[in-house]
Amino acid sequence: MEINSYSTWLEIDLNAITQNVAYIKRLTGVEVMAVIKANGYGHGARPAAQAAVQGGATWCGVARIEEALALRRAGISAELMVLGYTPPSKIPEAIDQQIVVSLFDPSQAETCLNYARINGGRLRAHVKVETGMGRLGMLPEEVVPFLRALQGSAIQVEGIFTHFARADEPESGYTQRQIEIFNQLLAELEQEGLKPPMVHAANSAAVFNFPQAWYNMVRPGNAIFGMSPSPAIHLDPALKPALTWKARLISVRTFPPGQGISYGSIYTTKSNERIGVIPVGYGDGFRRVDNQQVLVGGKRVPIVGRVCMDQAMLQLDTVPDAKPGDEVVLIGTQGDECISVDEVAKRWSTINYEVVCGLADRLPRIYTK
Ligand SMILES: Cc1ncc(COP(=O)(O)O)c(C=O)c1O
Repeated sequence: MEINSYSTWLEIDLNAITQNVAYIKRLTGVEVMAVIKANGYGHGARPAAQAAVQGGATWCGVARIEEALALRRAGISAELMVLGYTPPSKIPEAIDQQIVVSLFDPSQAETCLNYARINGGRLRAHVKVETGMGRLGMLPEEVVPFLRALQGSAIQVEGIFTHFARADEPESGYTQRQIEIFNQLLAELEQEGLKPPMVHAANSAAVFNFPQAWYNMVRPGNAIFGMSPSPAIHLDPALKPALTWKARLISVRTFPPGQGISYGSIYTTKSNERIGVIPVGYGDGFRRVDNQQVLVGGKRVPIVGRVCMDQAMLQLDTVPDAKPGDEVVLIGTQGDECISVDEVAKRWSTINYEVVCGLADRLPRIYTK
């Protein structure tokens, strides 16, 4: 099988993505925009998009127009939306490829309008509203005059959305306040006859914590890959992790006492120790931090010495049968043991999002269904 020709690789369970999306769709009963920016959170944008569409996603959301254009070229026919900035010079391509852009600033919209006029055709857009994220978005009071001014123009506003800053902290009251601000604006737009048909706000955390913010579409990213939006949120057991990171032992040898292991000899063997090598390092998006573990023979074993760019060393005394060619799991399950992305994120003092987004391009992605 293909996997035999790799020394380290990612296994991506596309069926998990499909089922996770289908579950969110059943749970919410509204349209799902699968957020697959940053190479589908490291899982591979095109396969992730295909799997999500199979699960019922009618939209795919990305951060940049280049990501949307690549998905179109790859044959994704679902609605595609750029959630971040689109350079005005790319507006003609957005129009040609039926890609929906975000408008978050009246002056940005003005430039887009000029490009749309030159190009001919209509630019499809959703307006992004600032309700508490403190990032991109029009102030609520800017929206009514903005939409009025665009009526009959080359920009067709088909949706309105906002983004939550703290939906993973349901007790804080912060998201409720964001929802109130957004709802107030929606009521005003309704009254003025200006409310766009699509309304969306919910990221993964809000899908599970704020049903009142589902509107007519939800925008989960992290959850469709079977990850929890925050260590404080218990992952819904219906969601299945899609990613496993594996490697093979490429060397196993016994070193005598006093042998320094890896750069700087920060680890020195105390007795005759069996030390294994895996061909994984920070060049793959692994991290050069201490106190890490991987799974060998269904057991946790420590990484010893400094992680190099392309290799890391394992202390194998607890798995005496381990030999070159054996499978090692860096993220995922082996036997009864599991190292979750969250566990790795904690060791790296970060969040699971950063772990998967940092997985290097050079890691082969093997897709299973
Ligand atoms: C605008 C927007 N919507 C939705 C998402 C999806 O968020 P999550 O991965 O937490 O579900 C993101 C991701 O950061 C985003 O920027």
